[in-house]
Amino acid sequence: MTATLRRQVFLLAQLGVRHLALALTGTDADGPGAEAWQRLEDEFRDWAGRFGINHVLALPVRSAGEGFGLADLAASAPDAQARAAVSAFLEGVEAAGERAAQRPFRFPVESARQEGGVAAAFGTVVSGHVKQGERVRIQPMGKETRVIAIGTEEGEAAEPGPGERVKLTLADPILIADGSVISTVESPASVADQFEATVIWLHSEPLLPSRRYQARIGAQTADVVVTDIKYELALGTEEELAANQLQAEGAAVCNISLNRPVAFDPHGENPATGLMIIVDRDSGEALGLGLLHFALRRAENIHIQHVDIDKTARSSQKTQHPCVLWFTGLSGSGKSTIANRVEQQLYRLGHHTYLLDGDNVRHGLNRDLGFTEVDRVENIRRVGEVAKLMVDAGLIVLTAFISPFRTERQMARDLLTDGEFLEVFVDVPLDIAEQRDPKGLYKKARRGELKNFTGIDSPYEIPDRPELVIDTSAMTAEEAADRVIDALRARGRLPQA
Ligand code: ADX
Repeated sequence: MTATLRRQVFLLAQLGVRHLALALTGTDADGPGAEAWQRLEDEFRDWAGRFGINHVLALPVRSAGEGFGLADLAASAPDAQARAAVSAFLEGVEAAGERAAQRPFRFPVESARQEGGVAAAFGTVVSGHVKQGERVRIQPMGKETRVIAIGTEEGEAAEPGPGERVKLTLADPILIADGSVISTVESPASVADQFEATVIWLHSEPLLPSRRYQARIGAQTADVVVTDIKYELALGTEEELAANQLQAEGAAVCNISLNRPVAFDPHGENPATGLMIIVDRDSGEALGLGLLHFALRRAENIHIQHVDIDKTARSSQKTQHPCVLWFTGLSGSGKSTIANRVEQQLYRLGHHTYLLDGDNVRHGLNRDLGFTEVDRVENIRRVGEVAKLMVDAGLIVLTAFISPFRTERQMARDLLTDGEFLEVFVDVPLDIAEQRDPKGLYKKARRGELKNFTGIDSPYEIPDRPELVIDTSAMTAEEAADRVIDALRARGRLPQA
């Protein structure tokens, strides 16, 4: 038995294949002889059996060119005995197909539209059944509704199951994103963005952790990064190999991270919603497969709760465009002073605002954090998340933190949508900040009484492309605040004066 055949059986086993038919060509007089074929068949059964594949058919066929399928297998059975073996095998395969019908209902939405006061979702049932009147959950959004009608091209359908293309009419006029998964409320799919998965790599270029690929799970798409190759599976053994990349036809257990939550089931429970195809983002070429094991980080039973009053509703009630003004710069640069003035102006204009200031937040939410690199990263991560919640609440948020690291400022930016994050670099030379020294901290740091002080013995990374730069050594705080308000107007976040 060749190495290629061994590897193929191994990969098919990882995919959950439990039935294999080995079509033996060249069993005629010119072939290697009955004994050799018997040996191959025995080896094949033995090898497949190691992976739990015990339902194997080996059958001599006349030829098995491209496109040779199960139907051809039956047609090419040479005698009555072989025909009986083929039909017994096929019965076993069909029984497996019925398993999909017994699994919970899953319906990946290919397209959807609102029709008056209801919504219509089109797609193919991949597992389970659904009935008219049943309550369903749309994931990952988490919204629940009821099926009020089920249609096919021929007319109404009573209780469609796996493989049936249907239109589900839902009781509420919900905007359903393509790719959403509809489940019954009793046994919904899970929702997560971080997984452990077995990744099977098929492309000649190796899989690189940290590289961004596209993932397709049913009809859902997302960006995917393999954050960690935990171990590679050694062919045909229980061995776990350390690996930092994955070559073609390799399989490895990995942690993966998506850029948005998706609805899924563990591959072992439902292959239809547990299989991820990994695709090249530019060419669309399939590169590998991911068999999802379980969600990391997020408890499996937490479903994102859909809320009807959303950011749009809350901000239109306040007649404003929520955003974050993220002030960054050295201690003593003037961040808090300017942010304060900007907030006063916004308040006078009738806007709803909130100022998150380093010194204040560090007395409450972040009072457990100091000024080591690790603590500053966590400080900004929390502030970024809070700012995002406040934007969701419809507020114009001002933050005044040194926020010395580019990566964390970028992280805060990535939590928001385009145009919502305005980085304001309050740029002042270190010697001027040091002369000002409003809290006497620079002097302390110079005397060595204060460690890790930004600009002295802890770094400040200058912003690459801030939306606004303000040099407070060249203008008053009032002028600086006017600049910020102008920038908000220029970017359409505030109405023109
Ligand atoms: S950040 O680096 O994590 O963004 P943050 O803006 O919250 O810092 O806090 C900075 C404020 O904490 C400074 O304005 C200063 O008053 C005070 N502070 C105390 N120790 C330090 C330090 N080692 N480095 C910088 N600021 C400090």
